[in-house]
Amino acid sequence: GIVVATLLRDTGLVTVDPGFMNTASCESKITYIDGDAGILRYRGYPIEQLAEHSSFLEVAYLLIHGALPSTSELQAFEERVNRHTLVHEDFRTFMGTFPRNAHPMAVMSSALNALSTFYPESLDPHDPEAVELATVLILAKTRTITSYVHRTSKGEPLLYPDYSRGYVEDFLRMTFAVPYQQYEPDPVVVRALDKLLILHADHEQNCSTSTVRIVGSSNANLYASVAAGINALSGPLHGGANEAVLKMLAEIKANGGDASAFMKRVKDKEPGVRLMGFGHRVYKNYDPRAANVKESADAVLAALGKDDELLDLARGLEEIALNDDYFVSRKLYPNVDFYTGLIYKAMGFSESMFTPLFALGRMPGWIAQWREMMLDPQTKIGRPRQVYTGATERDYVQVADR
Ligand code: ACO
Repeated sequence: GIVVATLLRDTGLVTVDPGFMNTASCESKITYIDGDAGILRYRGYPIEQLAEHSSFLEVAYLLIHGALPSTSELQAFEERVNRHTLVHEDFRTFMGTFPRNAHPMAVMSSALNALSTFYPESLDPHDPEAVELATVLILAKTRTITSYVHRTSKGEPLLYPDYSRGYVEDFLRMTFAVPYQQYEPDPVVVRALDKLLILHADHEQNCSTSTVRIVGSSNANLYASVAAGINALSGPLHGGANEAVLKMLAEIKANGGDASAFMKRVKDKEPGVRLMGFGHRVYKNYDPRAANVKESADAVLAALGKDDELLDLARGLEEIALNDDYFVSRKLYPNVDFYTGLIYKAMGFSESMFTPLFALGRMPGWIAQWREMMLDPQTKIGRPRQVYTGATERDYVQVADR
């Protein structure tokens, strides 16, 4: 648990640390995690307080600018983001060109990368105005892109933004509304989604954030860096876990719903069988986000009048795990993804949209981390060393002689 700053430059000494279990890649003032105590804070503020009292855009401002905004600062920021939610017509056409069964994460990362081609004035990583513009454009248009990703997967028409509505409310409208018909999302759903986005907004140097930083360390622009972050997030061991949890629950149900039998397979370490949504590299205690999400799951399902057998199954799996030595001794607890999928499902999102929703939430964190890195005088291009274990020198043999 102790972090020791080491300076090994030019000593000839190389440390090997697979998975970066003990290697810090940077100093950061953004997010604090104490994994043993189950503590998460953004810029010093406990996640529980932000989830309870703040809004997603306010948290985005906090992460990116380092302080909570005043009323006028927040209003100006919200208005600026709102004004940029519309995408270029050619971009809308581009969004409609993917096959319907394309995985939304592939579409989303392509879309974020492609966005840069429409805004060349926002690409210079060393121009503060360009960076500020890229920040606002990405926050605004990721919302539109995420709703389009849902629409295109269903073959539905892409809607235009309604500037009179808030970030989350209009995201839901653009995702679910029937064209030319009134759409009023349930306020419980709006609040729950806002809260989920807050809970996902940053998580220090995880796989996708480290990817964003390493791509940015070559002075690649913000769009290219966050598009890489989306790709890193797509894996089932990272953001893809929320989708994997639902698949796992559905499979257990299809096989008769025997939670104990499934847990035996997990503990026997059958290849490819893990309790998805459990365990975390940093949290060796209950993930504070998971506790919050679990409460939301109950509230949302009750508000929508939905009774989900899979939620009962998830609760049953958690109950077994919390009382089983395999999980207890390895300090495996539910992570943020264990219950989120069930809430998204109740809201009407298909499983393949769960990870794009994670990306929508994580966007402010990626942006904040990229910006912090760009301003940090200690930043150097990310370039890990290796320990070579291949063949020693050998002479080329002509193909006829092999
Ligand atoms: N189910 C069963 N066993 C597990 C699980 C799990 N979900 N997670 C870890 N273990 C076991 C491992 O088999 C290992 O056991 P061993 O010591 O007997 O070999 C031990 O716990 C340590 O696990 P590692 O894989 O070494 O831990 P690591 O820190 O590398 O992995 C990870 C963390 C990837 C999150 C892992 O716990 C996992 O695969 N969980 C399931 C996927 C998941 O939910 N990912 C979401 C992460 S949170 C996020 O990205 C938002």
